[in-house]
Amino acid sequence: MGRSGSGRSLLEKIQRREAKVGVVGMGYVGLPLGMAFAEAGFDVTGLDVDPRKVESLSRGQSYIRHIPTEPLQRLVGSGKLRATTDYSEAEELDCLVICVPTPLTQAREPDMSFITSTGEALAPHVRPGQLYVLESTTYPGTTEEVLRPLLEKGGRKAGVDFHLAYSPEREDPGNARFNTRTIPKIVGGLTPGCLEVARALYASALKDTVPVTSTRVAELAKLLENIFRCVNIALVNELKMLCDRMELDVWEVIQAASTKPFGFMPFFPGPGLGGHCIPIDPFYLTWKARELEFHTRFIELAGEVNTAMPYYVVQRTMEALNTQKKTLNGARLLVMGAAYKKDVDDVRESPSLRIMALLHERGAVVDYHDPYVGHLPKGHGLKQEMDSVELTPEKIQGYDGVLILTDHSGIDYEKLVEAARLVVDTRNATAKVRIGRDKITKA
Ligand SMILES: NC(=O)c1ccc[n+]([C@@H]2O[C@H](COP(=O)([O-])OP(=O)(O)OC[C@H]3O[C@@H](n4cnc5c(N)ncnc54)[C@H](O)[C@@H]3O)[C@@H](O)[C@H]2O)c1
Repeated sequence: MGRSGSGRSLLEKIQRREAKVGVVGMGYVGLPLGMAFAEAGFDVTGLDVDPRKVESLSRGQSYIRHIPTEPLQRLVGSGKLRATTDYSEAEELDCLVICVPTPLTQAREPDMSFITSTGEALAPHVRPGQLYVLESTTYPGTTEEVLRPLLEKGGRKAGVDFHLAYSPEREDPGNARFNTRTIPKIVGGLTPGCLEVARALYASALKDTVPVTSTRVAELAKLLENIFRCVNIALVNELKMLCDRMELDVWEVIQAASTKPFGFMPFFPGPGLGGHCIPIDPFYLTWKARELEFHTRFIELAGEVNTAMPYYVVQRTMEALNTQKKTLNGARLLVMGAAYKKDVDDVRESPSLRIMALLHERGAVVDYHDPYVGHLPKGHGLKQEMDSVELTPEKIQGYDGVLILTDHSGIDYEKLVEAARLVVDTRNATAKVRIGRDKITKA
């Protein structure tokens, strides 16, 4: 590294696991990543503005359902992992990895406030030889145009005095096949020296690293991955609506097409997009493209189709009730699943919340059951707090209909269909149910 010559020494510290690693933002991404670095032998400090998370971490208690407490307790107990709200500790750290949220504003534009407030808080603590890596999903140019000037405020130069890199997170909560350690990690540096150091850090804790030539390539690669999902999900969602008109089962069509051993990859329809990534990230690119007078039409069209899905589910529910001479207005409905996908407790952007709000607005009386989400606060379009109701055959019989919006694994769908008067299935969760198929409407 240029003036300070400290690039070499940081590399050596990393190789000897003596570099002190800081993870800024200990959420869904930061916590497992911090644990992976600690498991690899580094001393890790989690920096978070949420004192409840810091307090919980300090007790070795996990606050994310799919992250078990046992390994966390071990790492905290052995002193390998600790947490703080005090940014001044950043000065003592060698590598800082930033995993703060990147949501959209009300006007659906990138909300960079978490990145800027992190950059501002870190700026006074930048010292020569450190490595800063941004992991938050964002538009191409963020690391260089937004984070870099903030970190350089104190007069230190990125790529000269300290290293700067971008490495997107590919966390897939609940995925049993891949985890933080085994998912290959793309890394782009501001300079070749920055790349070398950032890559060395990740390579010491994770299985594979994938170097690219710039931070911008790394930023766009992550967006491409999520746009790919978003567009393909929109395609099958549109096909699902056509299949319903043609009285064809879209799931059977997709399964049949999936037998092609090359050139096809299955995507599955659902009640709408959910989670912190797929419904949001593509619009980071749309926004940036506008600066260049470029319209990302695929993204816009996919957004249009996917955001219409909750309305489609409501329409199908109305039609299903209609077959029983009932109206949506006044119907008592049970929604299965509040989380945005199966077997997780995350309700961010969950289409279930949108659908419950739409049903409610149309006069339905709605309850929900979710083994992972016991309580829903007001907000996300919900006008009142809700608690997950118990799932018994008697309870199910008391509803005019059941909507399966999340296909959690622990549910007995056979028994559910048996007890229900009608079922609207948006996830093909009832595929294997043989008895009572006439009660099922696919949506
Ligand atoms: N959750 C995922 O599966 C996933 C997957 C890939 C990428 N990402 C991306 O990773 C980033 C983080 O997402 P997440 O799901 O971990 O979010 P999260 O909300 O679970 O965690 C973010 C954490 O940052 C903390 N924080 C906020 N402002 C801070 C600040 N100024 N200083 C320190 N800490 C601060 C919050 O308290 C929270 O603990 C986002 O850009 C997201 O798009 C998430």
